[in-house]
Amino acid sequence: MFTHYPIKRSVLVPMLLYVQDELGYLSDEAIAEIARRVDTTELEVRNVISYYSMLRTRPIGKYNLQVCTNISCMLRGAEEVFDHCRKKLGIGHKGTTADGQFSLEEVECIGACSWAPAMQVNYEFHEQLTDEKVDQVIEKYRNL
Ligand code: FES
Repeated sequence: MFTHYPIKRSVLVPMLLYVQDELGYLSDEAIAEIARRVDTTELEVRNVISYYSMLRTRPIGKYNLQVCTNISCMLRGAEEVFDHCRKKLGIGHKGTTADGQFSLEEVECIGACSWAPAMQVNYEFHEQLTDEKVDQVIEKYRNL
C-alpha cells in the first residue's frame, strides 16, 4: 500500500477507511497500529479521525444515516428530514437502533449541495430528500 503514495503519511486516510471497513470502527488498538505503521503519533491519527465525519472510534449500526444539515441542505428542509429520521428510527444524533441495524448522525456538508437536502448511508448518497424518500431509503436497507 505504501508504494502507491509519495510519503507514508499520505496513506493515512485510505488506511483508516480500509481498517474501519474491516473492523466496523477504529479501535484503540487499530489506531496505535496505524500510527506505528505510518510513523506518526496516535494523537495525530486521532486528529485526522476527528476531522472526517465518515471515520469513527466506536461501533455503530450496520447502516449509518448521515444527514447533512449544513446551509444548503438546511435551507431546503434538512432539519425536518433529520427530525423525520429521528422519529422513524426512534433514535437521536449519534444513536443506534436496538437491533443494531441503523445509526443516525447530523453531519456537516457532504458535497451534495446541488441536490439538497442530502444524506449519506455508508458509501451511498441519497438526495433531494422528502419524508417519503427517507421512508423508502430506510425500507431499502431494512430489506437488504
Ligand atoms: S450543504 Fe448539505 S451537502 Fe452541502
